[in-house]
Amino acid sequence: MNSKHTTLDTPVGGTTMKFGVIRGNGIGPEIVEATKYVLEATGLAIEWVHIPVAEEAVKEYGHPLPQESINALKEVKVAFKGPLIVDKMRGRITCVHDDGSEDTYPSINNAIRRELKLFVCPRPIRGVLNISGKYENLDVTIMREITEDVYSGLEHKIGDVAAEGIKLTTREAVERVTRYSFDFARKNGRKLVTCAHKANALSFTDGLFLKCFREVAKEYPEIESNDYMIDATCYSLVKFPEKFDIIVASNQYGDILSDLAAGLAGSLGLAPGGNIGEHASVFEASHGAADDIAGLGIANPAALILSGALMLRHIGNTVEATKVEESTRNVLSRGKVLTPDLGGTATTMEFAEAITKEVEAYSR
Ligand code: NAI
Repeated sequence: MNSKHTTLDTPVGGTTMKFGVIRGNGIGPEIVEATKYVLEATGLAIEWVHIPVAEEAVKEYGHPLPQESINALKEVKVAFKGPLIVDKMRGRITCVHDDGSEDTYPSINNAIRRELKLFVCPRPIRGVLNISGKYENLDVTIMREITEDVYSGLEHKIGDVAAEGIKLTTREAVERVTRYSFDFARKNGRKLVTCAHKANALSFTDGLFLKCFREVAKEYPEIESNDYMIDATCYSLVKFPEKFDIIVASNQYGDILSDLAAGLAGSLGLAPGGNIGEHASVFEASHGAADDIAGLGIANPAALILSGALMLRHIGNTVEATKVEESTRNVLSRGKVLTPDLGGTATTMEFAEAITKEVEAYSR
């Protein structure tokens, strides 16, 4: 379905804002369309700047992540993206820069983050009334470090009998993600920041992570802090979700914890996120491209719609962000229009339309 709110043609006062859009693949294009449709209903004057990545970029530029697309993202500064399929065991990608230098990354998603110097992925995951069962009150934000750890891409084969990889942990990256988390807590009235680590087994890497976390925590005496081993974090999040508020974690632990928390909330389709940098930010759902349901029109777009709300909040459009968040939560908890992952029969666009109606009613 085509978007009915052509905001470029009908600006509602104020300046037109430009957002980059990476359509992605798998369920990406379907949930991206649904998200644009909902965001346009806020009445904001929006210009979408389409940025080719993956197959679209190969067709246009001969590379899945050409510098033209990276430069377009840097120029637009704020973008949202659909998920991208990464082939198992063949995901590595080399980006060639304008000056001829090259960097190799473990996946295209990792490459986007690192080429743009995005350093933290906040993933706020909240339970929903009538959807999340005993996790209705779940309200946790996972702050995932996204520049290093075992996803640094520093791995190699030793013939076909072994392989080894480096788990990179630097003081700079840990202090940055920790400071961001405590600043976020301060700004948003959050009370507790927890560090998830495995410093008993990984004395040097996770040991440094924990040490830096504790040092930074001292700069924020009004905010409580503690730490759990990553395995105990998983257990306790399931058993005692009320014990958590903000969780800071390295790249891999944060990745895994996000899906765990999404599962507690009720679906991967409920976990939004953003990749934040100093000069650019890219907002995306926590889930992947869900190839198993791609093209069926039944993917749950809620996580990407909520990521769109995070994007609006990030640039200061708090009222519109709240409208989108509340409308999404209302439609979910009413339970009449739900996608199959939540037990309903609605299509992606029927769900988006229900939210759009709610957003428009909110505005009247
Ligand atoms: P996935 O998150 O795509 O899917 C896991 C399960 O959850 C599937 O059964 C899927 O149908 C379901 N699911 C996910 N999102 C859903 C939604 N919005 N609505 C309804 N059901 C949903 O993880 P999977 O299958 O491991 O990965 C698929 C592809 O996505 C892989 O190529 C993977 O590398 C890629 N991926 C991309 C990410 C990104 O672009 N940021 C993140 C994670 C994975």
